[in-house]
Amino acid sequence: MTTYVAATANAHKLEEMRAVLTPLGVTIDPRPAGLPEVDEDADTLEENASHKALTIARRAGRPAIADDTGLFVAALGGRPGVRSARYAGESASDADNVAKLLVELRGVASGNRGAYFRTVIAVAQPTGEVLLVDGVLDGAIALAPRGVGGFGYDPVFLLPAPDGRTLGELSPEEKNALSHRGRALRALGDALRAPSGESV
Ligand code: IMP
Repeated sequence: MTTYVAATANAHKLEEMRAVLTPLGVTIDPRPAGLPEVDEDADTLEENASHKALTIARRAGRPAIADDTGLFVAALGGRPGVRSARYAGESASDADNVAKLLVELRGVASGNRGAYFRTVIAVAQPTGEVLLVDGVLDGAIALAPRGVGGFGYDPVFLLPAPDGRTLGELSPEEKNALSHRGRALRALGDALRAPSGESV
């Protein structure tokens, strides 16, 4: 059984990570009290995830796991992208970010609202070794929020036809089965089982 310390304090994310990784024999402990939230101010998801995982691994003296996710909207030239968490401002809530997205896309027709989520997961050792994996989910931005499940931009992220539901309308199991984070976590499971991942 491998055990990692999570860099995130987001309970939803921790739950999603555990749902996929526990059956693979990977245990994730919550971030120890006293370890701070690590800044996410780099220009790429890879840099942010690596920085978070490395900082926590070194501070905790144990292997750590971190993820960074961006929502990339074609009609907005890829924004909010790596800045998705602070899209509507430094201390923006999920509702603030969703509201800003819908305002920016006002007048953009359904056919031009394509978007994707990308998650990068980093597993870091206190010695500085880092393993990176990623997962992508294609979809589109809805005209209005639907559903109360998940978090973040889930209520406005539409799955492609013929499904057509938002991520907010899925059960946790359904979201994990197809989401960007679920895909990245399964890629991590594969990498940890591969011979080259044995030391990670
Ligand atoms: P981060 O990975 O915590 O930096 O997430 C960046 C932004 O994307 C935050 O506003 C999150 O709420 C949002 N986000 C991350 N993962 C998801 C997801 O699975 N669904 C919807 N929004 C997400």
